Amino acid sequence: MSNFELKNTPTWQNLEKHYIEEIQNVHLRDLFKDESRFNEFSVYDNNIGITFDYSKNIINSKTFKLLIDFAKAAKINEYTKKMFSGEKINWTEKRAVLHTALRNRSNNPIYVDGKDVMPQINAVLSKMEKFTNDLRSGKRSGFTGKKITDVVNIGIGGSDLGPKMVCEALKHYSDTINVYFVSNIDEADIDETLKKLNPETTLFIVASKTFTTLETVTNALTARQWIGERFTDNAVANHFVALSTNIKKVKEFGISENNVFEFWDFVGGRYSLWSAIGLSICCYVGFEKFKELLEGAYYIDQHFLNTPYEKNIPIIMAVLGFWYNNFFNASTYAVLPYSQYLHRFTAYLQQGDMESNGKIINFENNRVDYKTGPIIWGEPGTNGQHSFYQLIHQGTRFIPCDFIGFVNPVKKISDHHEKLMANFFAQTEALAFGLTKEQVVENLKKTGLSQEDIKVLTNHKIFEGNRPTNSILINNLTPKTLGALIALYEHKIFSQGIMWRINSFDQWGVELGKVLANIILSELKNESENSHDSSTKNLIKIFNANKK
Ligand code: F6P
Repeated sequence: MSNFELKNTPTWQNLEKHYIEEIQNVHLRDLFKDESRFNEFSVYDNNIGITFDYSKNIINSKTFKLLIDFAKAAKINEYTKKMFSGEKINWTEKRAVLHTALRNRSNNPIYVDGKDVMPQINAVLSKMEKFTNDLRSGKRSGFTGKKITDVVNIGIGGSDLGPKMVCEALKHYSDTINVYFVSNIDEADIDETLKKLNPETTLFIVASKTFTTLETVTNALTARQWIGERFTDNAVANHFVALSTNIKKVKEFGISENNVFEFWDFVGGRYSLWSAIGLSICCYVGFEKFKELLEGAYYIDQHFLNTPYEKNIPIIMAVLGFWYNNFFNASTYAVLPYSQYLHRFTAYLQQGDMESNGKIINFENNRVDYKTGPIIWGEPGTNGQHSFYQLIHQGTRFIPCDFIGFVNPVKKISDHHEKLMANFFAQTEALAFGLTKEQVVENLKKTGLSQEDIKVLTNHKIFEGNRPTNSILINNLTPKTLGALIALYEHKIFSQGIMWRINSFDQWGVELGKVLANIILSELKNESENSHDSSTKNLIKIFNANKK
């Protein structure tokens, strides 16, 4: 199949025809005349306490059927089985994709190149458990014998965003150890962090899959110097551990093998928080909580593997995103957590989704002629409401949104949580149904405004509505439900990658900038000639002329 035309397949054609003839002028107000709509378009999972309400989407029963037909024709289930069983579905890097093995609580064997990967995964988990317990109890101390109280994770991208997001989300469970995350190569990041710390009680976790990433290696060298200046180089063993697939490079850096927590090339960076990359999470909240996180993800893995398409939450999330992306021409997708604890969730998801599905070449190595991954963005509610929601409600763009909220607060303080969640429910209602001209005029009349003022204001106060949302309502924010939530999005991203026929697991698009930065670095250090386009050349000249 060297010339697969996705847009010419019957399932795509059916959707296109249906959109044009039956959906593009439909309003959610009309769709909700059907009282059974919520029952038809929602999934409740009692075991984990998640309600997924997708009834506020611009779909009817026929749309849903056609979307599921498309997903079936894409053979998502077949590819899912390939992924879970260790087939090398990341074909441009010739790698298996096995973040699911990291949380395989059944412990059933999974083979890559004929070798069961579970023993090595379990061995690293045990090593993480022992290390975490020793660190948190004070058994493993700093060079001068003092208890480690502060852990600094030095990493970037997948070696930063996942653990940072999870630590923020589970802050409530933290106790004896503080965590910090240094990612930016800008010295301000490490400098401002080190200022707060005492070298005697600080442990650095150098997290890098490749151990060649410029940002991480530079920050780690600065941290090592900071420790070396205060003690001797022998202190490195007490104050540094590494998380990596590249043991050789770690050793060259000066960290011995027993202080390395290994993972493998079948774990993609943006899917790595379940691996040794989660060590900062373990230090912060304890190994048991980390295990619960894995259990939550494993639960969703089983749901994703075994649930029919029609009730499969990640698949439904995927087809709805596809519906808006490819038929409504939506370019962006907002993810809006109504939880301060999830304030890094969307930033984490930006890498997860955009680095995975920001691709243009399909399974047949041809350029696609349809849109793939959308721009993911968002901030926690209600902060976003006082910032960008105006544009979602009344702007000219069409922006589908996911609202994520919790039934119970982690800690109840007066009526904060009811107020927060009242906003959650209000926003999805307002986005869907808006306010008609008649309603606006009636409301304005009640305020006693003159006819003239009503005339001026009316159009500005109309909300067209018909802005689609999913509501993900989770009973409680726990390590387990957090693990489940993350896995839902991981599998949504995977399913969309299959539907768009792209490789969600490579990231060649980040390479060119890295190569050019290395060339330019030597020019900034005046080690080589500046030979660029006139813009870049002159900017570099100005930089070199003005630097102190
Ligand atoms: O530049 C992108 C990237 O390769 C991500 O995919 C990855 O998560 C990040 O860099 C960090 O890479 P590493 O863990 O190898 O330092």
